[in-house]
Amino acid sequence: MFRIDRNLTADDLDKALRTDVAEGLTARPKRLPPKWFYDERGSSLFEEITALPEYYPTRAERAILELRADEIAAAAGAEALIELGSGSGVKTRLLLDAMRRQGRLTRFVPVDVSGDFLDSSARRVADDYPGLDVHAVVGDFEEHLGLLPVGGEGGRQLLAVLGSTIGNQEPGPRAAFLRDVRGVLRPGDSLLLGADLVKDPARLVAAYDDARGVTAAFNRNVLAVINHRLGADFDPDAFDHVARWNAEREWIEMRLRSRAAQRVRIADLDLEVEFAPGEETRTEVSAKFRREGLTAELEGAGFAPTHWWTDPAGDFALTLADV
Ligand code: AVJ
Repeated sequence: MFRIDRNLTADDLDKALRTDVAEGLTARPKRLPPKWFYDERGSSLFEEITALPEYYPTRAERAILELRADEIAAAAGAEALIELGSGSGVKTRLLLDAMRRQGRLTRFVPVDVSGDFLDSSARRVADDYPGLDVHAVVGDFEEHLGLLPVGGEGGRQLLAVLGSTIGNQEPGPRAAFLRDVRGVLRPGDSLLLGADLVKDPARLVAAYDDARGVTAAFNRNVLAVINHRLGADFDPDAFDHVARWNAEREWIEMRLRSRAAQRVRIADLDLEVEFAPGEETRTEVSAKFRREGLTAELEGAGFAPTHWWTDPAGDFALTLADV
């Protein structure tokens, strides 16, 4: 069984991109939100990143799920898996398989902004899990939580946000997001959150500045996206990739540093943007967590954390919290 709801049209995405680029590139310091990395090329570069020797988070989270999926499924006791920012890959299937072994699995609700990707991956899940009700939703889960097919009748739900996706939000919006998630769930439901942990800064920086330059290409790709979608004339090679550990805020920042003075024209916005030599545009924050801090954030949003699992090396955590 398969259906897909579209809460986000190509036109909505276009408007959002225009606003983000116009605001971000006229702000001081300049910024671009990370969600525009993921066109087809960006998504495949991200896939490549997850296999890099330096980028441990994906492997670490998968290792936890390989060891603990049955425990997670038993603790959640859910019949529906809702996955924000899916996925639908190996990690999702580890959870679905464990829930199926529990004998309660009936429904899977994958949610993603990328409609084409979601459509094909969710259909594959529907094919591979006969009898599973797969209800995909195209939407920006920061904005469209209220439109999700959750919280109706039916049994317990497990809502998963994997991959340390929450690390891309700063503390304020992250708190609002967690409260909103709490708001769409019912008593008995639970949240499974994947979080990358604070560790040796050298390892963190290497994970975001790999030797082969895949992350650098991923970072610069946002400029190619703006060229393509908004008729801009960025030369992506005129920007250096920068990954820096911010020790005070405990996050990795990715930036694009202009190599020289340059002026870029963004035709569709009728905008010209000047970059000074060495000027940096922030393109992503990737927050790293500690157990006490994340537990407090979950409690602040109205959740009751019940479990905390890490991979054997202690690099990454999955935490389960009750509503
Ligand atoms: C998928 C958003 C969690 O922040 O680690 C990987 C994205 N950026 N390398 C992360 C990313 C640079 C990734 N997230």
